[in-house]
Amino acid sequence: MKFQPSAVFAIAAATTATANPVNNNNNNNNNNNSPRQANPTVYLAGDSTMARTNSPHNGWGEYLSKYLTGASVVNKAISGRSARSFTNEGRFTEIERALKANDIVVISFGHNDGSSPNSANDNGRSACPGTGNEVCKSGKTGETVYTYNYYLQQATRSFINKGAKVVLSSQTPKNLWQNNKYSGNDAPPRFVGYAQQAAKNVGNGASFVDHYTAVAKMYLRLGASKVNSLYPVDYTHTSPEGADLIAQAFAQAISRDLNGTTPLKAYLKQPVPNVF
Ligand SMILES: *[C@@H]1O[C@H](CO)[C@@H](O)[C@H](O)[C@H]1NC(C)=O
Repeated sequence: MKFQPSAVFAIAAATTATANPVNNNNNNNNNNNSPRQANPTVYLAGDSTMARTNSPHNGWGEYLSKYLTGASVVNKAISGRSARSFTNEGRFTEIERALKANDIVVISFGHNDGSSPNSANDNGRSACPGTGNEVCKSGKTGETVYTYNYYLQQATRSFINKGAKVVLSSQTPKNLWQNNKYSGNDAPPRFVGYAQQAAKNVGNGASFVDHYTAVAKMYLRLGASKVNSLYPVDYTHTSPEGADLIAQAFAQAISRDLNGTTPLKAYLKQPVPNVF
């Protein structure tokens, strides 16, 4: 689907993330050398922390368009999904079919990818342990289960084959101020490093952004009471305000090349938020 940039869409950008292009072609104030293409679409693939969800919480993908210019955002993230279930439900394939050359896909999984597929009550989401070609067998369905890296790398390569670029993002943290104690200096979940490894394994066309570290730093700056106020239901899902802040941390991480340069840098709206 193609949308024409218009003032109407620019106003709508604050409230919808499915299609909100902003025409900034005559006002390019980016100060980096990344090549800009004509109005690419940025597809988002992820779980509930990125998806449009119901109040009192929401996903950060719903706010990303506020911090981009000259690119539309289509948020395909869905609650409860993992790299495995997103693959098995054909959701990566659906994005692949929609891609045009120079579009960008941001992939962020990790919250639902842990635990063991071998168990009799395999939830259809857990990846096989490891980061390579290891395989497991679902204890429930007998399905062959692959690693998190296998699923991400397979999807990433299919997108690059369509001429798109892929930004593999580390997952967001949970509330890092549980019991008023900051845990952002502890080792991050293993999927943070796995996503970075996936980008390296694929190489050209793939890049990595450490969104986890950006949000962890932001949470240190915000402090316990503010961060706790952003988690109205549990330690995973943030309020709309929290989701917007997490989108701002993403934009800042892209602008700071944390950890590597991504094609999104050319579409950051200036001034870039400063939240960490
Ligand atoms: C990314 O860079 C930051 C700052 O140097 C570092 O703290 C973080 O551990 C890096 N992330 C990964 C996944 O290596």
